[in-house]
Amino acid sequence: PELFLPERINSRGFDLRHRPTLDAVEAARTPFARHLWQASPMTATAAPGGETAAVINPAVLSDTVGQVTWATPETVARAAESARRWQAPASERRAVLNRAADLYEDHFGEIFALLAREAGKTQADAVAELREAVDFLRYYGAHADDSAAIGTFACISPWNFPLAIFTGQIAAALAAGNAVLAKPAEQTPLIAHRAVSLLHQAGVPVSALQLLPGAGDVGTALTSNPNVDGVAFTGSTETAQIIHQTMAEHLAPGAPLIAETGGLNAMIVDSTALPEQAVTAIVESAFQSAGQRCSALRCLYVQEDIADDLLTMLQGAMDALVIGEPWDVSTDVGPVIDAEARADIAAHIAKAQAEGRVLKTYSTPDNGHFIAPTLIRVTGIADLEREVFGPVLHVASFKASQIDAVIDAINATGYGLTFGLQTRIDDRVQHVSERIKAGNVYVNRNQIGAIVGSQPFGGEGLSGTGPKAGGPHYLPRFRSQPANDTGG
Ligand code: NAD
Ligand code: ALA
Repeated sequence: PELFLPERINSRGFDLRHRPTLDAVEAARTPFARHLWQASPMTATAAPGGETAAVINPAVLSDTVGQVTWATPETVARAAESARRWQAPASERRAVLNRAADLYEDHFGEIFALLAREAGKTQADAVAELREAVDFLRYYGAHADDSAAIGTFACISPWNFPLAIFTGQIAAALAAGNAVLAKPAEQTPLIAHRAVSLLHQAGVPVSALQLLPGAGDVGTALTSNPNVDGVAFTGSTETAQIIHQTMAEHLAPGAPLIAETGGLNAMIVDSTALPEQAVTAIVESAFQSAGQRCSALRCLYVQEDIADDLLTMLQGAMDALVIGEPWDVSTDVGPVIDAEARADIAAHIAKAQAEGRVLKTYSTPDNGHFIAPTLIRVTGIADLEREVFGPVLHVASFKASQIDAVIDAINATGYGLTFGLQTRIDDRVQHVSERIKAGNVYVNRNQIGAIVGSQPFGGEGLSGTGPKAGGPHYLPRFRSQPANDTGG
């Protein structure tokens, strides 16, 4: 399949630095500043819902964003029985997915409000997320053809890209002609409900796309249901391992699992790097989206000759970051997703503090689940016991002669998602990128924000099964006969 399709263009997005555009975005969001959304299962046959819960803004704990009625294992069973493959020809599926992309773009004000209030996304993050979701719809729509579908896919997604990844999984499965049972993360059911409403409005039949809001129990009900023929999952490596085991016990042999999981992502900055460029890339990679990207930088290696100067510059750049409510356009770092995430990250920082390893941290607003951008000294990536999913950057230094040992240590984590290199030596770019085991390698730029259709995204080892999302090898995995396609 072609990577670049002439008929496909990426979403234009919104330039928030352009005052009239920013004013238009804020005007479109304003009606939703106090809106209460509702989410519930959306199924093809009447199916009972379960308990209800309030959804609270992670940045403003007094702000109720809406209410969700959860699916139950019984809801899942009824939905799986009533799921029907999307029989429409590829041309119609493509047209419907394009219409859905247009509807997403038309509803930007409501979507930005939801992303801010339910998921804590800054305005810049919300713009990037809507663009990615729209790009997935158009990109996978453009790749739709009339090859045989697999059947019914369970699409299980995380809260950190509650629109983009949720939509991407669904769009790929639908473009290939499957039926979808979509389970969003329990933290972000409202955005998912709104997205599925727009997909239905665009023309996706309800029997081909059903929504099952819920937590891990709903996920288990899906991945153990014999009417499910395949699973697309994005989330933690631990959950992927559980799903793999559940599928092996309950689903037909060979049912595909497409899993995109966590990372322990590193960047190497050598003494030839341009310091301003490196610092900008580090700040964006580690702290944008409050570090809640699977692609985010977790461990920075700086060559010791420049380490003091670079870390001084880095701390200066961190001083300028604004921590606050995502609704305010000046905010750079919003909240983490919930109290559990906050407690987990805070415990990690507290341990480092007790060991005298915190180089920099800041105070935070106390009305939400905030964690300040924090720098922690480590001797190397092996000190990181796990992926800490927040704005916490670990830093180590290395001598020029140790660069291969650094690469070996990064590879030894077993993860392989993103990697960044800052250098002006061409041979080093060649040498390091040949040896490093990572799905996405970025040179002299940040290491987040892969663009659909241009930078297929996905990892190896503990970071995922492949194929890469937003690339030409993704959709074939949702068809019954992948065209000699094994990865990429
Ligand atoms: P998570 O694994 O806790 O949850 C992901 C989804 O799995 C949720 O919908 C959850 O309800 C569901 N789930 C939980 N237990 C389940 C079970 N036993 N069976 C079936 N489903 C179950 O992850 P999260 O906290 O929502 O997301 C953060 C993680 O996602 C991080 O590790 C991050 O690195 C990873 N991530 C990876 C990518 C990628 O493309 N590689 C992208 C985004 C996030
Ligand atoms: N695709 C997202 C990124 O590249 C996770 O940051």
